[in-house]
Amino acid sequence: MTDGSTPPKTNSSDPEELVGSLTLEEKAALTSGADFWNTVGVERAGIPPILLTDGPHGVRKQVAAGDHLGLADSVPATCFPPAVALGSTFDPELVERVGVALGEEARAESVAVLLGPGINIKRSVLCGRNFEYLSEDPAVSGILGSALVRGLQSTGVSASLKHFAANNQETDRLRVSADIDERPLREIYLRAFQRVVVGEQPATVMCSYNRINGVYSSENEWLLGQVLRGEWGFEGLVVSDWGAVNDRVAGIAAGLDLEMPSSGGAGPAKLVAAVRSGALEEAVVDRAAARVVRLVQRAERLAGTGWDYDRDAHHRLAREVASRSIVLLKNEDDVLPLAQESRIAVIGEFARTPRYQGAGSSLINPTRLDNALDALREQLGAERVAFAPGFSIETAGGDDADALRAEAAAAASAADTAVVFLGLPASEESEGFDRETIGLPDDQLAVLDAVVAANPRTVVVLSNGGVVQLAPFADRVPAILEGWLLGQAGGSATADVLTGRTSPSGRLAETIPFRLEDTPAYLGFPGESGHVRYGEGLFVGYRWYDARDADVQYPFGHGLNYTTFDYRDLSAVATEDGILVRLTVTNTGPRAAHEVVQVYTSLPSSTVSRARRELTAFASVLIEPGESREIELRVRREDLAYWDIRTNGWVVEPGAYTVEVGASSRDLRLRAIVEVAGDAVRVPLTLDSTIGEVLRDPVASTLIQQTMQQSVGSDTIASILSDPGMLRMMESFPIGRIAGFPGTGFTEEQIAGLIAAANAPQATL
Ligand code: BGC
Repeated sequence: MTDGSTPPKTNSSDPEELVGSLTLEEKAALTSGADFWNTVGVERAGIPPILLTDGPHGVRKQVAAGDHLGLADSVPATCFPPAVALGSTFDPELVERVGVALGEEARAESVAVLLGPGINIKRSVLCGRNFEYLSEDPAVSGILGSALVRGLQSTGVSASLKHFAANNQETDRLRVSADIDERPLREIYLRAFQRVVVGEQPATVMCSYNRINGVYSSENEWLLGQVLRGEWGFEGLVVSDWGAVNDRVAGIAAGLDLEMPSSGGAGPAKLVAAVRSGALEEAVVDRAAARVVRLVQRAERLAGTGWDYDRDAHHRLAREVASRSIVLLKNEDDVLPLAQESRIAVIGEFARTPRYQGAGSSLINPTRLDNALDALREQLGAERVAFAPGFSIETAGGDDADALRAEAAAAASAADTAVVFLGLPASEESEGFDRETIGLPDDQLAVLDAVVAANPRTVVVLSNGGVVQLAPFADRVPAILEGWLLGQAGGSATADVLTGRTSPSGRLAETIPFRLEDTPAYLGFPGESGHVRYGEGLFVGYRWYDARDADVQYPFGHGLNYTTFDYRDLSAVATEDGILVRLTVTNTGPRAAHEVVQVYTSLPSSTVSRARRELTAFASVLIEPGESREIELRVRREDLAYWDIRTNGWVVEPGAYTVEVGASSRDLRLRAIVEVAGDAVRVPLTLDSTIGEVLRDPVASTLIQQTMQQSVGSDTIASILSDPGMLRMMESFPIGRIAGFPGTGFTEEQIAGLIAAANAPQATL
């Protein structure tokens, strides 16, 4: 430690050495923000501050006042489709390109860290921030989250993977304890994070506001130390979500390196006091400060290089991605694409005033903004496209509601096809609070009724960040496009799909249920008294509906094209790394399009509770009309594993795995069975192991048989083993409890000896 009055006695760029030359106060200061978005610099040591900004689907760099709620303005940046749309592309290459573009914009604005992507699982359809997350499924979230981080970090800009972890609701988000059993925690909520961290090493991870099983993420040694760094090998820096720090001293000890935003010096002062009083080792502060320095050095490699980006090219990319995100849910009688010569009535204010992103910290100030009405007029000819707003978005049911509805019906009846833009008002879904229903506003549904009555050839186009209920009209309209929130070029992308310039290829990364009451977390969301219990366990999203054989409005993975695909010649082969899946897909229709081929695996003979099927691989493949493509997909061995709470580790069970391949989780076209060798993991036996467990353990059961042959008078055991009814009844008896029972012939010592012998490392089969 030095007194700080002189330049540090090192020219080293080694972060540890550099930190070693700083005063305790300087080191502590480095671990906290200077203001809302900048870190603290130490000028005499040549450590500059760096800038962090939101994220995730654009660069929100604020120049005047700072805030983390999207209130004050930011510099213009491309508003790419938010995560809800990216998730629907099922296309890692496309998402990686978005990552690169985000990096270029961040670099041009001297942003060192872009705060994203957010990869929390959509546990409940009501989460107000679902628009900022990718999927209800960990494979989609993990694979696309990895792609985004890969693209972003390839430009030298650092990612911040968030919100780690189990931040699945907005209600009480700064305090609530997400109470989750270890299996769903590992297999659903942490799995995507694990994949991105292990595969991509994001430079930073942002810890969440909430508690997990009672402990704040910001001071959770298990989460930040044992799991993130210990098990997954994370080498970067952990930053707090803005204001997530509860106890700064406990936090830094647990592995929270950087507190954001500034705490006005309070955080660093607490660290200094704790070190001085002996409550905290100085080495812990050094460790965090060195990680900050390493992050600063990463950013310095980009400094002063005069970066810029091509705004038009980024707008075009935003349009391409948006058009690939739109999900064609229904298209009876080929109502879509719209015939070139037809007369169209465009109805709904959203066509003119698009809803293209969600509210809160991710709010981007776009460089441009397309709307679908202008784009349709441009593509089809203004004279063929009539417009009626139908309703006003934020003031439902105003005085003019009847007149607007009548005007819409009249426009519809004068057209060949009506295209009705419905959606959620911005005020209904946002960071900071959850939704209360999944219904569309009543006034919009009333307009739709009037339009359908006037012209049954009606197409519905939806703008919504979270799932909405379609049941009130899904059977009464021939076509539905789920447009989510599509970013600044969403309007023209929607027109591209409606007119057939692009064949839609988006797939649902989340199930659309019939009713809110059908959803997995319905009875356990958003919790009460500071706790939310994840009672549905592993059965999140489609895993829930499949396990209950429940019908849904549209299943996970669903989405139509303007063409058709044929699947054949499936082969599935077990390899050392998992399962190699091959098949041939032919485009049997008239247009080139992307097909999203989905692979689901399951182990019907599993000894633990498992989902009926889980998505373990997918590919989005462009196929020309008449073309057949041989497609190869790899199911990673680790994705066949479950988390075993007895051995505290991942286990691949041996057995015949079912491999199903198809176009959605409920449109499975091909099936194969493949035998997979299990991991050499044995659950250690104890005196508490049941007779059933002991007998199922091959080593122990052989030992028992041998012991019985040698000993006289083990009548009880013998009769249990030879009588299936008796065996079933006694199966659940802990073996230690029957020691000494009359007639067993086994003493407690003998049973303990047998267990020890069975557990011995050399005891193999
Ligand atoms: C959000 C984060 C965001 C941060 C900074 C928080 O309220 O949860 O996602 O990155 O603010 O704006």
